[in-house]
Amino acid sequence: MSSPLHSVAQTMVAPGRGILAADESTGTANKRFEPLGIPLTEEMRRRYRDLLFTTPDFGSYFSGVILYDETIRQNGNSGRPFVDILKSAGSMPGIKLDTGTVPLALGKPDEKVTEGLDGLAKRVDEYVKMGAMFAKWRAVITIDTQAGMPSDACLNANAHALARYAAICQAGGLVPIVEPEVLMDGAHAAQSLETSFDVHERTLRFVFRELAGQNVRFEDMILKPSMVIPGQKSSNKAFLREVADATVEVLMRWVPAAVAGIAFLSGGQNDEDATAHLSEINRVAKERRAPWPLTFSYGRALQHAALNLWKGDDANASAAQAALEHRAQMNSLAARGEWSPDAEKQRDLVPSR
Ligand code: G3H
Repeated sequence: MSSPLHSVAQTMVAPGRGILAADESTGTANKRFEPLGIPLTEEMRRRYRDLLFTTPDFGSYFSGVILYDETIRQNGNSGRPFVDILKSAGSMPGIKLDTGTVPLALGKPDEKVTEGLDGLAKRVDEYVKMGAMFAKWRAVITIDTQAGMPSDACLNANAHALARYAAICQAGGLVPIVEPEVLMDGAHAAQSLETSFDVHERTLRFVFRELAGQNVRFEDMILKPSMVIPGQKSSNKAFLREVADATVEVLMRWVPAAVAGIAFLSGGQNDEDATAHLSEINRVAKERRAPWPLTFSYGRALQHAALNLWKGDDANASAAQAALEHRAQMNSLAARGEWSPDAEKQRDLVPSR
C-alpha cells in the first residue's frame, strides 16, 4: 500500500538521513544572531540560509529542510530559488505551518497552545504550488509538577490542533511532521527522568488519540518528539542508556507501528549529547525491534557550531559549512546507531557547547 505521501515520508527518514530544521521565525533568528553581532536583517538571514543549503554533500545527510515562510520565497546567492537549490542537492523542501504559541486561555500560568489553523488549507495549497513536500507544526508542553503542569486541558488543546493540522496537510498533499515538544529547558525544567517519562506518556496518548479521531493516516506522517531526558535544572543526570531505554519504551508503548518514522528534535541539548543520545536510542531500538526508523530533525544541535563560526562574515563560510557537514556526518552515524566518541574526534573543528 503505497501513496505519494508515503514515499515522501519514507524518503524523509531513509537510512542515515535526517531533516535540517532551519525554520526559525524572524524573532528566533534574531535571538540567535544578536549575541554574535550579526545584523538583524532579511538579507543576513538569506545569506546564512544560503551558506547552510550549499554545504558540500548536503543531500547525502539531509533528506529535507524545514523552511520558514520568508525563506521559501527567497533565492540563494546564485539567483536560483532556495526550493530549486535544495531539490538539485537531493533534499526536499518543507514548511513550518504553525504561527507560534499563545497563552492557553483559562490554563495554568505559562501553558501555551499553538495557533495557525485558520485558513490553513489555503496556505497548504499555496506552499504545495511553491514546491513544499512536507510541513511541521510544533506544540510546546511545559512541565511544572507543583503547578499541575501540564494540565489535561493543555495536552488536549495542543493534541487537537496537531491532529487538525495533520489532517489538513494530508488532504492538501503535504506529509505532516507532528511535533509535540516536552520542554527540557526553560524557566521550570527541573523534572526527573521519571517525570519526563510520565509527561511524554500522557502527551503521546493525547496526540495519537486526536490523530486517530481526525482520520490522519499514520503511514503518511512523521512524529517529531523530544527525547525523555531530565530537565536542564534537574539535579539528577541520566546515563545515555537510561535516556535511550526510557525514550524507546515510551515510544513503543504509544506510537503505532504504521507511523512512517520518528525524527527527534534536539531541544537545547548540546551538540554532542544530541548525537550520542540518538545513537544509543537507535541501538536500543534495534535490540527491541522497534518498528520505525529513528533519525534527527535538529535545529540548534546542527546549526550551533556553523553559526558561531560564520558570525555574519562570508570569509568564514567554508569553515562554517565544514562544521555543519561534520555534525551532519555524526548524526548520520547516530541515525544508524554507529556513532562513537572516537568518530567525533576525527574532525574536531569547533568545540561543542
Ligand atoms: O521546532 C523546533 C525545531 O524544529 C527543532 O529545533 O532541535 O533546536 O529543538 P531544536
